[in-house]
Amino acid sequence: NIDVCLSPELIGLYDLKGKIVVVVDILRATSVMVTALANGAKEIIPVATLDEAKSYLNKGFLCAAERGGAQVEGFPLDNSPFSYMNEEIKGKPIVITTTNGTLAITKSTTADQVLVGAFLNIQAVADYITKQDKDVIVHCAGWKGKTNMEDTLFAGALVELLYNSHNLACDTAHLSLKYYQSVKDNLLETVKNSAHAKRLNKLHVIKDIEFCVKQSTYDIVLILEGKKLITTS
Ligand code: MLT
Repeated sequence: NIDVCLSPELIGLYDLKGKIVVVVDILRATSVMVTALANGAKEIIPVATLDEAKSYLNKGFLCAAERGGAQVEGFPLDNSPFSYMNEEIKGKPIVITTTNGTLAITKSTTADQVLVGAFLNIQAVADYITKQDKDVIVHCAGWKGKTNMEDTLFAGALVELLYNSHNLACDTAHLSLKYYQSVKDNLLETVKNSAHAKRLNKLHVIKDIEFCVKQSTYDIVLILEGKKLITTS
């Protein structure tokens, strides 16, 4: 089965035990995590709160913090994928806290496996899942408890890729699939109309949106091991 949870506020309604949860925050947390590991970061430590991130910062870790789309003062890294394409991050663990994405990850830990998905690695995620005989829940990070367009579109795209191997377990799987199929030829223009794209536009990060809707740029799968996201071998 494949099921879709449209908000971290609803994840408590789902039984995650024995399942694969794919956490998604297209704009931009999970796109950033995939980019960072694809570009040589050692591992990602996602944390839900700024206080946790600060304690890592004080211990000398490289830390990224975002709230409301903007970089949090005092933290060296922001939440743009383009900040993770340089030598500075190579071989290093990176601690990340964001408004919604890292919260969704920390709310998924009772699952058998927690993966991080983005359009950037969607085919690799689908291939990884089809090799296993497990139910899947796509956990959309949304925005402050509300459903958003871009994560729902990713859910629909993943449902489409898994259509032949998984039954659609609930209405949200059907809804997200139909929504994705109705706009997939015009994904960038659709996502540009999302509430968060408008928020990011005000912060002048339009190129991030264009990058985050690119499909299968990276052939890696991110999996949570303890508190760390690493690539599966
Ligand atoms: C989030 O976690 O809400 C986002 O990744 C926000 C962003 O930086 O665009």
